Amino acid sequence: MGKVVAIHSFRGGTGKSNISANLGFCLARRGLKVAIIDSDIVSPGIHAIFGFEPDAPRHTLNSFLAGNATIKEIAHPIDMPEVAAAGGALYLIPSSLELSEISHILRNGYNVSLLIKAFKDLVSQLTLDFLLIDTHPGINEETLLAIAVADCLIVVLRLDKQDYQGTGITLEVSRKLGTRRLLLVNNVTADHDPREVTTSVEDAFGASVIGVLPHAPALMALGSSACICQKEPDQPFAAAIDGVAGRLIDVEGGALQ
Ligand SMILES: Nc1ncnc2c1ncn2[C@@H]1O[C@H](COP(=O)(O)OP(=O)(O)O)[C@@H](O)[C@H]1O
Ligand SMILES: [Mg+2]
Repeated sequence: MGKVVAIHSFRGGTGKSNISANLGFCLARRGLKVAIIDSDIVSPGIHAIFGFEPDAPRHTLNSFLAGNATIKEIAHPIDMPEVAAAGGALYLIPSSLELSEISHILRNGYNVSLLIKAFKDLVSQLTLDFLLIDTHPGINEETLLAIAVADCLIVVLRLDKQDYQGTGITLEVSRKLGTRRLLLVNNVTADHDPREVTTSVEDAFGASVIGVLPHAPALMALGSSACICQKEPDQPFAAAIDGVAGRLIDVEGGALQ
């Protein structure tokens, strides 16, 4: 049975969408079947990294929640030669960028059991090894659902006091929900030793660190217009994300058995 991994941070702009996209690519490049769902209905972003034009007509997570599309129709295959060569598969389930559809959900809400159904049906109908959920920051209804449904929660944080305090809150929620918790430290400058960062973050939160990702000017330069692990695989950030993919497979190895 495939594993559901929620990628979350208490604050916005920590790198969740770029991490989700690149982690998905690295897992698929290892021959796995992976889907990434943009559950950030209010401020979607991950479509840009895979080159989806915002105004092209396509089914989105919103279409499914409105009862207008099936699971297979909202899962868009991402065509990447590295993934095909490895025998893997990568899908993106985008959220709508239509203002009317976003405001409809904000105004009227949606049937939350349908969102849980979407997560479960994606894993079974696409026979996934991994479903990655790119979440909206903070603690809201989708986030709680994503954490509750997930086998594993990856909390992204930076070495910043506001991130630290928020991370404590997210971890407390996931502890109560019984989801496996892993920490991923992003945007770490070269003056920090990654091993020391790992030790101090693990001591502070009592949870394991799955990776320490460097501050990456090359990622900033791409400006969320591409997947750095595909475009510039030799960049330290890309290599670090691939390491996280390997460790995730080790931790959630049941997906591959
Ligand atoms: N390690 C990093 N080094 C430099 N820039 C980064 C790093 N991680 C993320 N960024 C930049 O931060 C911005 C926000 O990233 P994004 O993935 O959209 O975050 P989120 O989804 O958490 O809001 C993007 O411009 C991205 O390029
Ligand atoms: Mg995002």
